[in-house]
Amino acid sequence: MNSLVRRSNQLSLRRKYCGKYCGPEATGRNGKHNYEEFIRRHQRQARCSIVVQVSSEKSYTELYNYCSRFGSILSAHHYCVRQDEALHYVLMEYSTPEESAAAIDAGVTIGEPKSAPVRSPFLWFRAAGGGRRSSKMTISSLPKLHSLDGTRQVEQAHLQGLLRGATDIEEQVKLLHEQTRLNEIGIRMRFLAALQVERAIAGMFPAAQAQPFGSSVNGFGRMGCDLDLILRFDKDMGAKSILEAEEPSRLVFHTKETFSNGRSQTQRHMECFGDMLHLFLPGVCHVRRILQARVPIIKYHHEHLDLEVDLSMSNLTGFYMSELLYIFGEMDNRVRPLTFCIRRWAQTCGLTNPSPGRWISNFSLTCLVMFFLQQLRQPILPTIGALVKAAEPGDLRFTEDGINCTFARDVERLGFKSRNQSSLSELLLQFFEFYSQFDFHNRAISLNEGRPLSKPDHSAMYILNPLEQLLNVSKNVSLEECERLRIEVRNAAWVLESEVENASLSEEEGERKELSWGLLNLFKHPEKAVVRPNMFFKPRMVEVSDLFEQKETCQTSNSNVPTPAITYKSASVRHQVQCIKASTRSEQKQIRGSASSVPANSSKNRRSHR
Ligand code: GTP
Ligand code: MG
Repeated sequence: MNSLVRRSNQLSLRRKYCGKYCGPEATGRNGKHNYEEFIRRHQRQARCSIVVQVSSEKSYTELYNYCSRFGSILSAHHYCVRQDEALHYVLMEYSTPEESAAAIDAGVTIGEPKSAPVRSPFLWFRAAGGGRRSSKMTISSLPKLHSLDGTRQVEQAHLQGLLRGATDIEEQVKLLHEQTRLNEIGIRMRFLAALQVERAIAGMFPAAQAQPFGSSVNGFGRMGCDLDLILRFDKDMGAKSILEAEEPSRLVFHTKETFSNGRSQTQRHMECFGDMLHLFLPGVCHVRRILQARVPIIKYHHEHLDLEVDLSMSNLTGFYMSELLYIFGEMDNRVRPLTFCIRRWAQTCGLTNPSPGRWISNFSLTCLVMFFLQQLRQPILPTIGALVKAAEPGDLRFTEDGINCTFARDVERLGFKSRNQSSLSELLLQFFEFYSQFDFHNRAISLNEGRPLSKPDHSAMYILNPLEQLLNVSKNVSLEECERLRIEVRNAAWVLESEVENASLSEEEGERKELSWGLLNLFKHPEKAVVRPNMFFKPRMVEVSDLFEQKETCQTSNSNVPTPAITYKSASVRHQVQCIKASTRSEQKQIRGSASSVPANSSKNRRSHR
């Protein structure tokens, strides 16, 4: 790895950061999808696509008929954006980017004379003039209009009904994932939003790329998640030719440096892009500039896509972090459903919040899940350190500030195979138990090592940033919020444990359908949170169920209440329990004896009472 780093340092002198995807085509050999492949496929799909607003889906036949003249349409998807009334759109994909470009080139500008005539993939379909109609086509050749909506989130009541009707908690976790994850059309729409920005500035910045990252592409996004976009100006526009040519080009572009401070320059550039988006880009509205943040961003809403966008121009590590999460999600098909379930739980008990603050972010929470899966006795995920070790020259990646984001993209090379057979419900319970005992006070979480480390500072929660290990991903989390997390995981462990137990007791399907059970009881609202102070901060050293073989009821000698007769698996546990019982009995006797020998109104008695 050292030689890799040395080589990379030399290379980074020639190319500040790796261009689009300069490594060799890295398609996984394990049948799993590869992130770069996934991104490229969706970028191409976006370049082949247009979005046309129509009066209703009934316009589809006519629209298809009209648009077919520009090329062959591979697929069409109808979706709605709900404002005062439902607005209808059809997203159509041509077979080549040239065909969609031909359709866009055929667009005209009408309406407000003061509006800027901007060319973009967002169009609307006006009624045919002079009563002319497009020639009729045979219905058999019309591709089906898919009605998968990329904006609509599953109704709460519908989801609850589905969860109630599931057979077990395992199925509930899977259903939750299937029903709430970002669908294919939602992903397409996000790549179109990125393309729109890229195209808008392509005249002056032909190599600029607006690349989606975060939950929209890492496989952990739910319907309605925001789009994180990074606008990259590939400074080495000729990088490819520099690397491939025998000698570097001697022709160098003149450039303009307006500020000596790089951060001020980025802020000023972003302000300018913010104005441009606000003034010219169709669909872009509610533009907000948050330029003083550690990573300055421009936030906006896209009204044709019903989408919130966060656009940044620096911090490429977020992009590579998304790739790491994508790789983890692809490695084992329990990773995503489990994370979805935990993110949902955290949302419903008010641990996470869409706006940033002193609470844990979805990203930090996802890191907690990944770490949990790494540190298991039978790990489900490898450490990031192992991924870094398995990197090859084709995996070299650097950000513009030289941060090393090199790790193996083809995980097959790792030879990692998990032998962990735990079900999703077992893992969920183990997650809650693990963090209810985790020593947040003294330990930091390292995904690079897959084990806790000593905490380098006094932050309430410390998660080493996997790509910049001197930074803490969860620096924002306050002590109070960290305590709340510990309380909530403990509560969740308690609720889930009794849910698992009840599920095995009550096999009555009909009864179940009526009841709230399993995850439905876990996803409570903050005001209904069950807080049991006596349960907190007592690390459970062993599972109670591990101690006993079976349960049956019998009558105890000094009470009429039936209590369980227990067979112990371990002789030493039996001995300990008997000792505890004996000493408790003798203490009880002493208390009774001393209580009867002290007068009821004595000062000693009053004091002990207090
Ligand atoms: P939601 O937007 O809540 O659905 O989740 P998200 O994963 O998109 O989180 P967020 O929008 O906050 O961040 C977007 C992406 O930026 C994350 O997925 C990470 O890849 C990356 N990211 C966020 N915070 C950090 C950080 O502190 N360090 C690094 N390296 N990457 C980060
Ligand atoms: Mg996001």
